[in-house]
Amino acid sequence: MDNPYFYRNKIQMPVGKDRSGKIITGFYKANTHDIVPIEKCYIEDERSTPILATIRQLMKEMRVEPYDEDKRTGVIRHILIRTSYRKKQIMVVLVTNVNSFPGQRNFVNALTSKHPEITTVVQNINKRDTNVILGNYENILFGKGFIEDTLMGLNYQISSKSFYQINPVQTEKLYSAAIEAADIDKDDIVFDAYTGIGTIALLAAKHAKHVIGVEIVYQAIRDAIRNAKHNGVANVDFHAADVADYLDQMALENQKIDVLFMDPPRKGADERFLESVLKIKPKKIIYISCEPETLARDIRILAGHYKIVSVQPVDMFPQTHHVETVVALVLKK
Ligand SMILES: C[S@@+](CC[C@H](N)C(=O)[O-])C[C@H]1O[C@@H](n2cnc3c(N)ncnc32)[C@H](O)[C@@H]1O
Repeated sequence: MDNPYFYRNKIQMPVGKDRSGKIITGFYKANTHDIVPIEKCYIEDERSTPILATIRQLMKEMRVEPYDEDKRTGVIRHILIRTSYRKKQIMVVLVTNVNSFPGQRNFVNALTSKHPEITTVVQNINKRDTNVILGNYENILFGKGFIEDTLMGLNYQISSKSFYQINPVQTEKLYSAAIEAADIDKDDIVFDAYTGIGTIALLAAKHAKHVIGVEIVYQAIRDAIRNAKHNGVANVDFHAADVADYLDQMALENQKIDVLFMDPPRKGADERFLESVLKIKPKKIIYISCEPETLARDIRILAGHYKIVSVQPVDMFPQTHHVETVVALVLKK
């Protein structure tokens, strides 16, 4: 990355207190839930730093308590901030342990008055005793409840729960490498597994006959459908489903896929999913991975029938040990 700092468009920090009772936001110390206070993070979008400072200040002034995991008391558990790279839009998500807190409306008014750059504020309610950051219920407290961004000439709407690549500059390089490796033909049926908000599917649709995108998070599929509509892309269908179930069904019905994009989470693909891939036998597979270990494990399963033609790492997470990789595989003759 040419400028490998301040690139993260998604910030999520737990909220707590230090020993003196001061409200802090930061990161968990390794293998603990002790918060290390962070006032400036060198890989996160700089627009989030003053917003976090204001939230800490407002919590102090308005006596809004951080959530205490041991006592299971308090109000704000986590703060999420999503920034748009190309549009001047920022989303703040307050993850709370309560349905509403006293002075909530004043809190949001004060926050958005001090930071007019915030375009939407969402409350996510998470009352469970869990490490999972987001709960199931959300209220839109201000604005539309999503932000928009532009990648490679397409516009995307992104809700709080939808996956969206965290490094917008490198994402364009990643997607370009993936689309180039796929070398899609105009008659090809393309399947985008783990599609998120449909980013790869919509790019592939420009080259293909038809594209199917499947994703398990309902809100992300809702974003994907809107994104297809707003970008005028008609040759794509999106489905909210477990991709292993969906592909299983396609294999049973003898449906054809020419090019498969698969971009699973870190834990890699489901074995059932890979079994269905081996039944359908797409001509090409473009495996996009953020975890080399599961990438290698899954490719070993595909290797009997597929040949690796290229491996392209992309520096998506500078200053960390993580790496993104695009692997192109072709069906052996
Ligand atoms: C690494 S993200 C990739 C998203 C998208 N390709 C992109 O570039 O923005 C992985 C996605 O897989 C989804 N996912 C996880 N398990 C799934 C499953 N079993 N079936 C379908 N989607 C799943 C996640 O919700 C997430 O959106």
